[in-house]
Amino acid sequence: MSSGDVRLVRILLVGDPQCGKTSIILALVGEEFPLSVPPRAEEITIPGDVTPEKVPTHIVDFSSQEQDETTLSEEIVKANVVVSYWLPLIRNSTAGGLPKPVILAGNKCDLPYPVETQAQRVQELLNKFTEIETGLESSAKDMHNVSELFYFAQKAVLHPTAPLYAPTSKQ
Ligand code: GTP
Ligand code: MG
Repeated sequence: MSSGDVRLVRILLVGDPQCGKTSIILALVGEEFPLSVPPRAEEITIPGDVTPEKVPTHIVDFSSQEQDETTLSEEIVKANVVVSYWLPLIRNSTAGGLPKPVILAGNKCDLPYPVETQAQRVQELLNKFTEIETGLESSAKDMHNVSELFYFAQKAVLHPTAPLYAPTSKQ
């Protein structure tokens, strides 16, 4: 598939409960940190003309409070790109098909975590899971890397890099 064939990018956000998935979607849409959020954001479509790559982009939230694992697997199959660190689950859901490009997002980077340990962990994951297109730290609270996160996800679909076409994913 060349990028020219993609008419709609479907981005799915998955991750641990309370990691900030809904907040980051609503921060993108509202251009500020939302003080209170529902468990799950409504599915939204961003019109092509306001996205950097000019392709309509559908953003899908996942909430383990409201949805079960079967629904999650179905959503992974439907998505073009997944923003997550739930990597083994995503791999299993797409077994037999092309791997889904993943954007690894460490949200809440405004909070004081031991940065060195985190960077090391990210490097390990990047080495192990070649489907990770980009890893980045974000903060819905500080509006840091919010639009970038969705831009990298869109780019991963429209301009996929080598790992998506790795020999293991071919017949
Ligand atoms: P579930 O739907 O329950 O899985 O949670 P979620 O991943 O959608 O997280 P949600 O957006 O509901 O945010 C959980 C809590 O983290 C809320 O209290 C948010 O205000 C807070 N939060 C979200 N993003 C950030 C961030 O970047 N920094 C900080 N400090 N807090 C955040
Ligand atoms: Mg949520």
